[in-house]
Amino acid sequence: MAITPTVNSAAIRWHGDRLQLLDQRHLPTETLWLDILDSQQAADAIRDMVVRGAPAIGITAAYGLALEAQRLGESATLASLQNAIACLAASRPTAVNLFWALERLQRVAGDLQGNALCQALTDDAESIHREDLAANQAMGEFGADLLPDGATVYTHCNTGALATGGHGTALGIIRSAWARQQLSGVYAGETRPWLQGSRLTSWELLNDGIPVTLVADSCAGQLMQQGKVQAVIVGADRITANGDTANKIGTYNLAVLAQHHQIPFIVAAPVSTLDSALPDGSHIVIEQRDGSEVRAIQGKPVAPDNCPVYNPAFDVTPAALITAIVTEQGVIHHPNTEKLKAHLSQVKDRRHD
Ligand code: MRU
Repeated sequence: MAITPTVNSAAIRWHGDRLQLLDQRHLPTETLWLDILDSQQAADAIRDMVVRGAPAIGITAAYGLALEAQRLGESATLASLQNAIACLAASRPTAVNLFWALERLQRVAGDLQGNALCQALTDDAESIHREDLAANQAMGEFGADLLPDGATVYTHCNTGALATGGHGTALGIIRSAWARQQLSGVYAGETRPWLQGSRLTSWELLNDGIPVTLVADSCAGQLMQQGKVQAVIVGADRITANGDTANKIGTYNLAVLAQHHQIPFIVAAPVSTLDSALPDGSHIVIEQRDGSEVRAIQGKPVAPDNCPVYNPAFDVTPAALITAIVTEQGVIHHPNTEKLKAHLSQVKDRRHD
C-alpha cells in the first residue's frame, strides 16, 4: 500500500516496495527525494541525517527492516534479519523511537518465515507510520488546550511533518492551535549547529502560512524578558521513567530561561518516545557529532579548521523544569515517576480493552 500523509511538508513516502525520503540536508533550497531499497540504505539515511527527528527515524527503521525482509523473500526469518537489525540500531543512539520500532517489528516477526514474514513486517511498518500521524493529531489537540488565546510561542529544532509521520509533535500543537485561531505567532530558534530551526521549521511554517519569526538561539532570553513569549514548546528524543527529557542541544537552556521567566515549558512526544527502562536522564546515551558541523556552516568555514569542538547533539532537561508532557493519551502535568507510570499503565489498559 502507498502511504503519503495528506499533510504539507511530509518527508516519508512509502510505495509498498520502495521508500522515498525527502533529503533534509538540502532544505530549504532544494527538494530532493532519495530512494531507499534496503536496510543498509535506510541506516545510512538515518546516520547521515537525510531523515531526522525521533518519530521519523523510527518509521524509517521500520520500513528499512520490512524492505530487508522483502529482499530476502522466501528465505526471510527473524534470524536472517539480525544483521540488518544491528545495522539499523547502530545508526543513531539517542532517539528511543528507533529501538522501539525495531523491537516492535521483532515481536511481530516471531516465528514467521518467507512471504508471511515480509507481509507482517510491511503491514506493521505501515501501521507505525499511520499511528504516528494519528498520535500527532491527538497531541495537537491536547497541547493546544494548554495555550492561552493569542499566545506567541517559542520552539526549538524541527518537530514538524519533516520529523514525524506528519503534522508534528511540538509543531503539531502549533499547527492545531493555529487552526483553532488561538495563536498569534511563533518564534523559531535557528538551532545551531545543524540549523533545523532556520532550514526546516521556518520552511514548514511558511508553507502552512503560520506567522513565524526566525531568531538566533541566543535571542531567546531577551524575548522572554520582554514578555514576548507565552509558552515554550519542544519535542523529545527520549523521556525517561521520571520525566527527564533528552532533546536537541539547547533545549535545557530554554527550560532554565522559561522557569526564570515563569513561562510554561511544554514537551510534546508520542508514547513511543517514553523509555520506562531508564530511571532518569543520566542514563541516556547522548550522540556526539563531528566537530566540522560547528567549525563550518553548510560547508563554509566559520572557525579555524584545527579548533577543537565539543558537539553533543542533545541535552537532558530535568523533569522539574517541565510544566507538562503531552502525548497522544493526554497531558502529564509536572511529570514525575509516579505520574509517568500511571500514564503508561493507562496506555497498556487501553491496548488490552
Ligand atoms: O538531530 P535531530 O534533528 O534528529 O534532532 C531532532 C530533535 O531533537 C527533535 O526535537 C526530536 O527528535 C523530536 S521530533 C518530533
